[in-house]
Amino acid sequence: MTKRIAVIGGDGIGPEVTKQGVKVLEKLSQITDLDFEFEEFSIGADHYLATGELVTDEVKADLLNFDAIYLGAVGDPRVKPGVLEHGILLDLRFSLDQYINLRPIKLLDSKFTPLKGKGPKDIDMMIVRENTEGLYAGVGGFFKKGTKDEVATQEMINTYKGVERVIRYAYEYAQKRNKNNKLTLCDKSNVLTYSHDLWQRVFKEVGEKYPDVTQHHMLVDAMTMKMVRNPEIFDVVVTCNMFGDIITDLGAEIQGGMGMAVSGNINPEGVSMFEPVHGSAPDIAGQNKANPLAALLAAAMMVEVLGNPKEAQMIQKAIDLSLAENQTTIDMGGKLTTDGVGDYICSVLG
Ligand code: NAI
Ligand code: MG
Repeated sequence: MTKRIAVIGGDGIGPEVTKQGVKVLEKLSQITDLDFEFEEFSIGADHYLATGELVTDEVKADLLNFDAIYLGAVGDPRVKPGVLEHGILLDLRFSLDQYINLRPIKLLDSKFTPLKGKGPKDIDMMIVRENTEGLYAGVGGFFKKGTKDEVATQEMINTYKGVERVIRYAYEYAQKRNKNNKLTLCDKSNVLTYSHDLWQRVFKEVGEKYPDVTQHHMLVDAMTMKMVRNPEIFDVVVTCNMFGDIITDLGAEIQGGMGMAVSGNINPEGVSMFEPVHGSAPDIAGQNKANPLAALLAAAMMVEVLGNPKEAQMIQKAIDLSLAENQTTIDMGGKLTTDGVGDYICSVLG
């Protein structure tokens, strides 16, 4: 079973952390039946500054030949903010129609959460965020811009197709996941009486096919309170693009910050992309200081979504051990370098 992985290290610490991921996956292939074939793509600031290109149509077509994309981070102080982030990340998400953003919120050790009295059993949920429409569809405009009569609109686009496919994915995930088989719809249906009325109806309609999944509803404002006070009540959560953006950042903090936050941009019928949530951290780039654990968790998620949960669990276990034994980088309270953490994970894998 050879999996073809496109590696986009990107900028700053991006290539430093994906290098650890590739190393760990290569080790995994030595001790399991899984095999990987990696191909590196030089996409990012250097390539852009040298050629003016972000992601060409040829590269996009080429990426369709891979089982998954493993991404570090993009963003560079030499390039105007947004150019690389929009021109690469958003362009790939849209052109590959990665309509689901999967964000696990999983606390690995009580010492990393700011929530008093909460442990790994309490903070363990999967947020399924719609990734292509909603308020982020880019529909809207200005009228009389720059005058005191200015009107600015930004429309929230909700298509039946878009809502149905993300909700169906979330039900399937809730059915498979080993917790309570519970799916929470997080919306603002009391105020967004058209958009989120559609979400409510589709949630019930699709739910009929998943009688073993418990349906649960939470308004987004209440959701932020519950995530802090009673995070244990959540299993799988499905939500729209904007609310997903916000509650996943809250989730990242309760699970121990950016060093632990990972993201999968999923097209279940196409090519998905896995990445740590943090950026390119130019302030520490090139110093072998970056914490590679989020990138390694992203690699584990990639292995899982590619259909190999047992092997993903092996990586997860090795990461748990590195935390328990303080075999981490400085930001996590350890003393290891980026390479050092990667080597440690390889040494305890299996
Ligand atoms: P950032 O996440 O790169 O860094 C924020 C702070 O966290 C910095 O002090 C950094 O040193 C630290 N940090 C981040 N990741 C770390 C790691 N793995 N280990 C240790 N420390 C880490 O966010 P910032 O500074 O706002 O953005 C820097 C660049 O990254 C910008 O160009 C931004 O647009 C881009 N960016 C890219 C993202 C992506 O590719 N998905 C996401 C967020 C930002
Ligand atoms: Mg965000």
